[in-house]
Amino acid sequence: MSDLTALTQDALAEVAACGDLAALDEARVRWLGKRGVLTEQLKALGALPAAERPAVGARINEAKQELQSAIESRHAALERAAVDRELTAGGIDVTLPGRGERPGTLHPVTQARLRIETLFRRAGFEVAAGPEIEDDFHNFEALNIPPNHPARAMHDTFYFPDGRLLRTHTSPVQIRALQARGAPLAIIAPGRVYRCDSDMTHSPMFHQLEGLVVDENISFANMKAVLHGFLQAFFERELAMRLRPSFFPFTEPSAEVDMSCVFCEGRGCRVCKQTGWLEISGCGMVHPNVLRASGVDAERYTGYAFGAGIDRLAMLRYGVNDLRLFFENDLRFLGQFPSLPA
Ligand code: DAH
Repeated sequence: MSDLTALTQDALAEVAACGDLAALDEARVRWLGKRGVLTEQLKALGALPAAERPAVGARINEAKQELQSAIESRHAALERAAVDRELTAGGIDVTLPGRGERPGTLHPVTQARLRIETLFRRAGFEVAAGPEIEDDFHNFEALNIPPNHPARAMHDTFYFPDGRLLRTHTSPVQIRALQARGAPLAIIAPGRVYRCDSDMTHSPMFHQLEGLVVDENISFANMKAVLHGFLQAFFERELAMRLRPSFFPFTEPSAEVDMSCVFCEGRGCRVCKQTGWLEISGCGMVHPNVLRASGVDAERYTGYAFGAGIDRLAMLRYGVNDLRLFFENDLRFLGQFPSLPA
């Protein structure tokens, strides 16, 4: 039997010299493992005379325990050293600010819509909505656009095989609101609309704002005042506004709303094509056929309506020159519109 004291000294020295946890584990296996040096000593006991076995066995076990506790404390020391090294090597600088997540912001078109809703609510309007998948009656027929009317050709409609369609404007909400609530009534209806059309200034999906006021003694002058007030509130400045005669099947008389150019204050620039005016909305007095189609007494009630592009209002307010930017979801663009508290 080898000299147990010398063996133990060798083992302890080796454990003390282990520089990392992997080396320490190797040492443990070499000395205490199934075929470890000390384990082999125990196996050799059988060859000793029976009288010597208890004493030698006890000494071997003592040696094993001494080595075991030396390995445990070396293990703890190496672990502590590893943590210290990581902290002092600058791997973790606990004083660095967190990486954080930038909170999202509302889309500029959504911000414009919410602003429009707030302004009209303040003026006594309610916000109404209708389906984006419409039927022919609400999108056309009830709006005084019968089959084969030339206005249908201008709408580039997306049809479903069953004859339903994606609404081409928010005007069908006029019909639905009148059918549901009757007169008197003052609503706006912002929403998505669809037309088979796509270029610099057209997107197959875009946003419209519909307005409708029906009551006794509603006049063209009422409409002019509300629209002018809205535009000045929306753009937060004094603006000139003018009405030009126009045609829509669902209004009579009809007009086009122009406002003085927000970029050149009416002097003439590229955006307003040197005219000093920007076309911003269609409007008019609700055609009696529309009131009748919605079940409203056209003798007793009159009304006005208007329809404007929300995307266009947002482009003008924020100085965006390409409609497509609104629909590309490029965070470098969208990040420039931090949401203001409502
Ligand atoms: N619906 C029209 C369009 O999409 C816009 C419009 C014009 C709506 C005049 C109205 C209106 O309510 O009175 O082009």
